[in-house]
Amino acid sequence: MHEIFKDIDADRARSFVGRDIISPLDFEKDEILFLLDVAKRFETFREPLLPGSILAALFFEPSTRTRLSFESAMNRLGGSVLGFADKGVSSVAKGESLNDTIRVVEAYCDAIVIRHPLEGAARVAAESTERPVINGGDGANQHPTQTLLDLYTIRKEKDRIDGLKIGFLGDLKYGRAVHSLVETLCHFDVQMTLISPQSLRLPAQFRDRLTETGISFTEAEEILPAAQDLDILYTTRIQQERFPDPLDYERVKSVYTVDRSILPKVTSELTIMHPLPRVTEISPDLDDYPRAAYFRQSANGVTVRRALLALVLGGIL
Ligand code: CP
Repeated sequence: MHEIFKDIDADRARSFVGRDIISPLDFEKDEILFLLDVAKRFETFREPLLPGSILAALFFEPSTRTRLSFESAMNRLGGSVLGFADKGVSSVAKGESLNDTIRVVEAYCDAIVIRHPLEGAARVAAESTERPVINGGDGANQHPTQTLLDLYTIRKEKDRIDGLKIGFLGDLKYGRAVHSLVETLCHFDVQMTLISPQSLRLPAQFRDRLTETGISFTEAEEILPAAQDLDILYTTRIQQERFPDPLDYERVKSVYTVDRSILPKVTSELTIMHPLPRVTEISPDLDDYPRAAYFRQSANGVTVRRALLALVLGGIL
């Protein structure tokens, strides 16, 4: 084991080897914190830990950050990546099932990251192979590696997670990044403010989970005054591709735009996050606000995914 990992819990590290990363609910709080601690070491650690390893990146939906940051992470670890970024160029276009696709691809790689429009597709993929499968986003369901980089960003920007007041703004109904992060934050001592139009409220199953775990939350439709005392405002895109009726999207597509005019009305400590891509919900005039963290957030994706791949493929043992 390299010097920089000498003091980590080796048994804990071993428990990640070969593991599927499908839902944040599959992880205990200690495991999440362990992963974040390992990721921190990758800020300065640059050595290739996975020479010869191959990651298959199967993207059945568009992506910039998730696909390219996994690719960057794997390349920086000395491994390589194969796959597709458009289902139209795979044999799925000829009618091949997901199960068959995974059973074929497993022979070509050591791990698989999959993004798919259907909720539960990553779980189905994981059940089709012995290779570790990482969920890169399944429909409106979950986006666990986004959550890991979000938590990493929160800790880096705020030095803590416990005790924070965190607001979620925008499409809380279809936003999988929100769903994953909200569920994971149930492990922590946080307060939440859920800001959305009525039609895009956080689904009942997630609100019930907040209630069950004793997380204090309020709901609002307007940004202010709801956001005025927050430590973090996690903004999200209205997920056009998930609306069954395009007219419903038209009604809400421009419902929120956060711009510099908000700054005098909120605490000077307010950190603004966004999983990106953004459309109109954050004005570019906020980009040079020092606590606009969204581009740092997406950059953290490479660090966190390097740690995750190194753990899952046994590179740090
Ligand atoms: N945040 C995120 O998942 O971005 P992409 O859709 O570009 O991967």
